[in-house]
Amino acid sequence: MLPAHSITATVLACAAFSVAPVAATTYSMVKEYYGSSFFNEWTFYNYYDNLTNGDVNYVSAQNATAYQLAYVDSSTNHAIIKVDNTSTVVYNNKRNSVRITSNDSFAVGSLWVADMYHVPYGCSVWPAWWSQAPLWPQGGEIDTFEGINTNTQNQMSLHTESGCMAVSQNQTSTLVTSTNCSYASNEDQGCIVTDPSTSSYGAGFASSGGGAFVTEMASTGISIWFFPRAQIPSSLSSNGSTIDTSTFGIPVANWPSTGCNVSQYFQPQNLIFDITLCGGTWFTADGVTWNATCSGICYNNWVMGSGSDYNDAYFEVGYVRVFSTQGTNTVVPSGGTTASSGSSPTTSPTSSNSAVALPHDGVWMAATVLALVGFFSSAL
Ligand SMILES: *[C@@H]1O[C@H](CO)[C@@H](O)[C@H](O)[C@H]1NC(C)=O
Ligand SMILES: *[C@@H]1O[C@H](CO)[C@@H](O)[C@H](O)[C@H]1NC(C)=O
Ligand SMILES: *[C@@H]1O[C@H](CO)[C@@H](O)[C@H](O)[C@H]1NC(C)=O
Ligand SMILES: *[C@@H]1O[C@H](CO)[C@@H](O)[C@H](O)[C@H]1NC(C)=O
Ligand SMILES: *[C@@H]1O[C@H](CO)[C@@H](O)[C@H](O)[C@H]1NC(C)=O
Ligand SMILES: *[C@@H]1O[C@H](CO)[C@@H](O)[C@H](O)[C@H]1NC(C)=O
Ligand SMILES: *[C@@H]1O[C@H](CO)[C@@H](O)[C@H](O)[C@H]1NC(C)=O
Repeated sequence: MLPAHSITATVLACAAFSVAPVAATTYSMVKEYYGSSFFNEWTFYNYYDNLTNGDVNYVSAQNATAYQLAYVDSSTNHAIIKVDNTSTVVYNNKRNSVRITSNDSFAVGSLWVADMYHVPYGCSVWPAWWSQAPLWPQGGEIDTFEGINTNTQNQMSLHTESGCMAVSQNQTSTLVTSTNCSYASNEDQGCIVTDPSTSSYGAGFASSGGGAFVTEMASTGISIWFFPRAQIPSSLSSNGSTIDTSTFGIPVANWPSTGCNVSQYFQPQNLIFDITLCGGTWFTADGVTWNATCSGICYNNWVMGSGSDYNDAYFEVGYVRVFSTQGTNTVVPSGGTTASSGSSPTTSPTSSNSAVALPHDGVWMAATVLALVGFFSSAL
């Protein structure tokens, strides 16, 4: 016969195993960016690219509309985010492009889906669909989608303070470039996982009709799924208000909390679309990447001149939807105190979010107690 404390431990372990994973993988929709209102709740950068030193001017919302660089195609209801492909750029000038950041941010316990039909590609083109906290690197960064030039595969990564590592990754990709997520390691390349699928970027993405990127930022770990259009699970394509990630299969990239304490290294994330040209370490410090698929000098031979090199440099987005762990609301409205508080990295969402999370914790506790009662009843 087992000593009493072992029985209790066993029952607790069983209860946690059978209850917690179900609760943690079901999410309810809390935010949608779609159709004619797609661009309403984003901030346009409205300055030249002083962030990655690309050769672009990120335009204002007003000019993005005026120049048709960010608009909703009324025939499809898809949002277009693009590089200027109609102007001639003369030496020393930059080309117009777009960088937008969501006004709201989304705390640990969030999941976001971006359904896209086309992503920007071509020599000198460097797009990303990603997120970061206002305090960087303390609040972390998740790169769900990042491509460059005429590469054929999506590159995913986390960037954090030191102490976050990719370990025991339960993912379909075997292409792991680096495992130390610290911004101070490997020239801030982050902990990179590459998607083996050539439908995950560039011309291959477009010819498959695009697909859906899912980013889960759970306290148990961060996961990314990519589904080419023909393989989007019905739970996503049916537009249900809840989704259950346990139906998605193994993610293409995964960073479990065993190696990276998500609640410690990640604060509420603002979602970002951007497209820059040249710039950054991928071009200037790593000529190997440029030379692998492109030729000439990035600015002189590509950015300068007519815009005809940029006919494929656009995002076509069906929708962006954000979900919260069922029973919670992880939306941190713009101006919310959490994101800019400057307090310790372990700060959790605003107190109102913690409050709405309580019913969920309550359900979990009740289930644990019931399991305990049930076990002892049958044992007696
Ligand atoms: C970029 O320019 C903006 C606007 O002047 C400024 O607020 C910001 O600090 C600059 N960022 C960097 C990294 O230089
Ligand atoms: C729009 O673009 C024009 C021409 O580049 C520039 O002069 C103007 O300041 C821009 N307006 C805004 C609101 O950004
Ligand atoms: C990860 O990189 C950081 C910054 O260089 C370093 O301090 C830390 O020791 C590295 N972690 C491991 C496990 O190598
Ligand atoms: C799901 O929503 C998208 C737009 O957000 C729409 O195009 C599509 O038809 C919807 N699908 C279903 C099954 O309702
Ligand atoms: C990996 O994830 C799958 C699907 O989520 C799960 O069934 C499996 O048990 C996990 N494997 C490990 C070793 O954690
Ligand atoms: C890239 O190609 C250019 C032109 O052929 C060459 O000068 C340069 O050394 C190459 N850079 C690297 C890192 O291979
Ligand atoms: C610019 O690119 C779009 C596709 O993104 C294309 O429809 C359009 O014809 C291009 N404009 C010019 C002037 O080539």
